[in-house]
Amino acid sequence: MQLPDEAITYEYQGLLVPPSEDWVPVAELRARNFLPAARIRELAPRLMQVRSQVATERDLTQVPAELQPLDAGFIDLPQKTLDQHRRHPDTSVLGRILSRSTQLRGEADRVVILGIGGSYLGARALFDALRSSYHNELPPETRLGVPRIYFEGNNVDNDALQDLLDLLQTTCVDPEIREERWGVIVISKSGGTLETAAAYRVFRRDATEYYGPRSPLLKQLFVPVTGAAGKLRDLSRADGYTDDEIFTIPDNVGGRYSVLTPVGLLPAAVMGLDVRALLQGAAAMTRRFLDEPFEHNPVLQYAGVNYLMSEEFGKPVRVLSIWSKKLEALGLWYDQLLAESLGKMGRGPTPITAVETRDLHSRGQQQQEGTRDKLVNNLVVKAPRTPPIAVGMADRNEDGLNALSRKTLPDILNAALLGTNQAYHEVARPTADLVVPTLSEHTLGQLMQMLMLATVVEGRLMGINPYGQPGVEAYKRNMQARLKG
Ligand code: PA5
Repeated sequence: MQLPDEAITYEYQGLLVPPSEDWVPVAELRARNFLPAARIRELAPRLMQVRSQVATERDLTQVPAELQPLDAGFIDLPQKTLDQHRRHPDTSVLGRILSRSTQLRGEADRVVILGIGGSYLGARALFDALRSSYHNELPPETRLGVPRIYFEGNNVDNDALQDLLDLLQTTCVDPEIREERWGVIVISKSGGTLETAAAYRVFRRDATEYYGPRSPLLKQLFVPVTGAAGKLRDLSRADGYTDDEIFTIPDNVGGRYSVLTPVGLLPAAVMGLDVRALLQGAAAMTRRFLDEPFEHNPVLQYAGVNYLMSEEFGKPVRVLSIWSKKLEALGLWYDQLLAESLGKMGRGPTPITAVETRDLHSRGQQQQEGTRDKLVNNLVVKAPRTPPIAVGMADRNEDGLNALSRKTLPDILNAALLGTNQAYHEVARPTADLVVPTLSEHTLGQLMQMLMLATVVEGRLMGINPYGQPGVEAYKRNMQARLKG
């Protein structure tokens, strides 16, 4: 059940044209750069229509040509996964994820997660948001049985890959000891993505040398996650995996919408995260999307406001201004979601991730005084997970901070947020706040589902298919041709 104070909200009133402002130059600017409240009211019926359309798309068995590809499976999947687990605790997908992750954690102290794009960014976002920023450096007893986690196969950088191989070779000497064993989760829906496949081959080769060619550990410590068919499945079968030992990514869920399939859930479970709470948060967001009126529906509000700002009010650059260092990877996940879903037919907003207050010292200048092509969505985490750190009194006050001794880091961050919003408002730069109560599995589940649903709604409003990414194929074709040439 979702408690009201755990719910995500989208606060966009600050970017509406103020109702009756006396004429001053900046009022004129706000009238031109902010959103008239009437326009969002006018859009409401269309939003309701799109919501019904998206709801209907979930149940289509015959997909008409103009809707293809259609990967709406992610919408109901969180609740379905929980229900299936309740009925079949051991054999359900979630049951298998929980038992396989427990086994892997028991057998290895280092896990390398291979994957790229939608097969990488969601797990990375969860790890960075919900685990210690120094997780891999913590001693085993503090990590409570959670392995160190590494991400590879998301690039083809020789030096970066060699760094990880060197680390594994120097820290893992005795394969009989759990603390010196490493495993791999390899994730690729198509099963043929070259970046991931090449890295997988390299790790398999190293593992064969380390554990021995006939060691049962090779299978125990390597877990494939892939689509129903493809080269990775063929390879896994040839390695002796049964279909039950391979985690399957559902056909009707696209890569960047797949974080709540085994693609994100298996890594999350290995990281020791509460995957049930993740799913519950996402399922709660789907219910809000389907049932709530516009006034209480962050999906429709976010999609509607962002659509109008980029399509009608000249703000095609969408800055996700993140007020938590721990959500930077979430921002990269959203960059991919938006760019690959809506960047089509010569259209689509351009996503940018900024992390505050760090990037106030870089992008801040441009957001305050640069081209008026941006909408800033602040992603605000209301309360930290850890007790607030106070500035405190000190004997030496040359830095002048004794005056702020009772202030905490969250106080400073909040003052920076309010001050930045004010500074932008004063020069008619629109901002809105997407507010997350705190960082937890439940709120992350809500947030990711909200952004995925909003992207689909926005695509339908624009008349752009939010699924599929035909444009990504061109580089792959050229790369393959050059490699073969
Ligand atoms: O959103 C998508 O579908 C893509 O970003 C894919 O996730 C990415 O290309 C990786 O593909 P695969 O999982 O097939 O290796």
